[in-house]
Amino acid sequence: MTTHCIEVRAERIYTVTIGRGLMQEIVESVSEAHRVAVIHPGVLRTSAEAMKTELESAGRECVLIEVPEAEDAKTPEVLGFCWSVLGTAGFTRSDALVGLGGGATTDLAGFVAATWLRGIKWIAVPTTLLGMVDASVGGKTGINTDAGKNLVGAFYSPWAVIADLNTLDTVPENDLRAGLAEVAKVGFTSDPTILDTILEFPIQSVDPNSAQLESLVVRAVTVKARVVSGDFMEMGSATGVLGREVLNYGHTFGHAVEKVENYRWRHGAAVSVGIMYVAELANIAGRLSDEDLNTHRKVLEVIGLPTTYPAGRWDSLYSAMQVDKKARGTLLRFVVLDSIGVPSVLEGPDPSLLVSAYGSIVPD
Ligand SMILES: NC(=O)c1ccc[n+]([C@@H]2O[C@H](COP(=O)([O-])OP(=O)(O)OC[C@H]3O[C@@H](n4cnc5c(N)ncnc54)[C@H](O)[C@@H]3O)[C@@H](O)[C@H]2O)c1
Repeated sequence: MTTHCIEVRAERIYTVTIGRGLMQEIVESVSEAHRVAVIHPGVLRTSAEAMKTELESAGRECVLIEVPEAEDAKTPEVLGFCWSVLGTAGFTRSDALVGLGGGATTDLAGFVAATWLRGIKWIAVPTTLLGMVDASVGGKTGINTDAGKNLVGAFYSPWAVIADLNTLDTVPENDLRAGLAEVAKVGFTSDPTILDTILEFPIQSVDPNSAQLESLVVRAVTVKARVVSGDFMEMGSATGVLGREVLNYGHTFGHAVEKVENYRWRHGAAVSVGIMYVAELANIAGRLSDEDLNTHRKVLEVIGLPTTYPAGRWDSLYSAMQVDKKARGTLLRFVVLDSIGVPSVLEGPDPSLLVSAYGSIVPD
């Protein structure tokens, strides 16, 4: 297969490389470092050990830092543990970090890199679909605290992102489907070809060995890279059109669902319901056509993602949306579509519209 290289322009310019069998690229990306620390979850121990062997053969000293799975890695305690390993190994500014894992691991690894010696080189090696198309691209790093998710962090781009599609072979199918929610999201907002591929090839779209999934990853990363390059610090775009905020499509309601469900739902499933909610809202507000609304439902359903949410939870959802950190001031703000591929903002909608949109996603 072809290896794809997509450039991101942030506080530094870096490349997202997408392909298969990319160990050599990983070794080369840290060729100037004396020591390399690989932060990885236990489930990827074998891959981390293989990486250590390759790095040592290339003359690097390598330390493996095994961290807990998923959100259990994004804690102040695990951050402190990583710092202590780097301290013991005598890590200097000429050394480098690799974050090998899903979005939780790369979020943590990037924040370790941002904070150690006020910033050392790091490489993101995402191994989940969500990690490849979303978390590893864009320079947002961080951990969770008792006050909430992702509240402590830094904008700190990697020096390279290396996404080896072969790593997806061991990702459970439901996690692939959840990751596809973020792919569909950028399809709705920015690249309708993504939607055509999902609708035409629903089975291949969740098959890590298919050309279709490869193309979906490349397209989704291309959109994210373009958006991030235009608005790295999420200040809004200089040209007056939506900047990085467009990536929040479906996330205001999606985050509320995650909170109300006590974070037991997969992020992608909550985003899927959030996308359906905001599509209904835009339709009721007279922005989005019935046809485009139906396309939303068809795409999400063909992936096997939820498009409905139980009745009776409006008060909790509404108060969760009010405190979502994306709400500005007191006005609720939603990224909506005027049509597929044409995003805009709906600010401070009438509460009756919000309730009606909720009614539209409650199952019959
Ligand atoms: N920085 C950003 O811009 C950004 C964007 C979106 C999401 N995120 C963050 O990403 C995280 C979610 O990421 P995720 O969905 O990748 O989940 P995850 O990192 O929690 O991974 C899910 C599970 O899969 C395991 N895993 C990883 N790779 C695997 C593989 N190849 N085979 C089998 N198992 C594997 C992980 O160890 C973990 O146990 C959240 O913490 C979220 O806040 C960050």
